Amino acid sequence: MNDYYQVSAQPPLQGQIDISGAKNAVLPLMAATLLCKGKSIINNVPQLDDVATMAQVMRYLGAKVDHQGSRLTIDTQACHGHQAPYHLVTKMRASIYVLGPLLARYGRANVALPGGCAWGPRPVDLHLAGMQALAAKVELTHGNIHAYAGKLKGVDFTFSTSSVGATVNMLLASVLAEGTTRLFNAAIEPEIDNLIDQLNAMGANIFGKGTTTLCIAGVDQLAPTEINAIPDRIEAGTYLIAAAMTRGRVRLNQVIPAHLTALLTKLSDCGADIQYDQDSITLDAQRQGLRPMSIKTGPYPQFATDLAPQWMALCASLPGITQITDHIYPDRFQHVDELNRLGANIRVKGNSAYIIGSTSLSGAPVNASDLRAGAALVLAGLVANGTTEVRQIHHLDRGYHNLASKLMQLGATIQRDADDTSVNVTHLSLCG
Ligand code: EPZ
Repeated sequence: MNDYYQVSAQPPLQGQIDISGAKNAVLPLMAATLLCKGKSIINNVPQLDDVATMAQVMRYLGAKVDHQGSRLTIDTQACHGHQAPYHLVTKMRASIYVLGPLLARYGRANVALPGGCAWGPRPVDLHLAGMQALAAKVELTHGNIHAYAGKLKGVDFTFSTSSVGATVNMLLASVLAEGTTRLFNAAIEPEIDNLIDQLNAMGANIFGKGTTTLCIAGVDQLAPTEINAIPDRIEAGTYLIAAAMTRGRVRLNQVIPAHLTALLTKLSDCGADIQYDQDSITLDAQRQGLRPMSIKTGPYPQFATDLAPQWMALCASLPGITQITDHIYPDRFQHVDELNRLGANIRVKGNSAYIIGSTSLSGAPVNASDLRAGAALVLAGLVANGTTEVRQIHHLDRGYHNLASKLMQLGATIQRDADDTSVNVTHLSLCG
């Protein structure tokens, strides 16, 4: 819990790395295995703390989970439970993904209510409204969601806000419901498509993949399957931004360029040269000077909120004035004060940050408040004069597989040290 990274300014990043499977795809794929008895397999699963936490939740429910290398095997034959306890949900908000499948399989679910996170409230009202629409009874008592249902009943449901998690839960609940469910304003992130592919391979009937209108014809039962998790577009975007910031030339393998269109367009607008083929992206920022660009985040395929902190590090390190507006999480700016400790000049007003960029960042000790804020601080450390100590890096272990070794593979000077002072971690991040 007390580990930290020492990051030193270095020459431009050069070389190539493989991108790992997507954390935000794997977690729903794991929850979906609860919908049937038997042994399911998920490939391309990175060894991440969030994957380990979801495995703990599954084991708590009676599943056998085995993660060897990048292959995850989940045997739900002996599943009995219907409860996801607070100490696990507190560690990771995505534990709520078990709500839908438990209701669909067992007609009941007790899931701790996720709290807020480092950057503010993370409501689950859409998850609960969706379950109620499917004829479940939902009570909130003592910080727990108690949900009961006979057979869930298909329904037309409109998400008032585009929500990845609520779309996941509604898909997982409706596949075994009686009759047909139609979801309107559903999220269309690639991770949702990955889940739809898995559910249809299990025997579900889901139509409308890739659109905001999904139609799910309920079936009586599903069977285990084998599925590959898609590459992690946020991990990939993080390394592309690092390559641009250091004026390097980096090739990413095992990636899907189409999942990164908004970022690639912005990087190209900054002046970086982008080449890509079916499963790789090469960014070259060695030649021309880069200029920072303003961004606004939004639901996919708009610029991902999970890449906004990293983009802020890029804007802080290039001469120019830019604005970052987050329409998904208006408070997601915990990293601003820490970037300012590195010499950045950033002010926040409402859901926007205003950055006066310069090339004079200087290394200092900083604290990661959450997964993507930590990534932004590591990237800033790559260009700040001197050495930057990024602390609280357990947040990074949740979602970045082999971060230091991948950066070292590209020529970065970064090492992980254990801090022997006992730092009292008063806050476990729920931001995931
Ligand atoms: C997923 O979170 C991701 N997490 C987040 O990534 C990501 O930032 C987010 O989607 C947005 O893309 C996982 O996939 C595990 P949402 P999720 O429901 O599903 C509001 C990371 O760094 N909302 O799409 O929780 C919500 O407040 C993490 O990997 C409600 O109002 O996000 C937000 O404004 C951080 N009521 C908007 O919808 C609800 O019931 C989008 O949230 C649910 C959400």
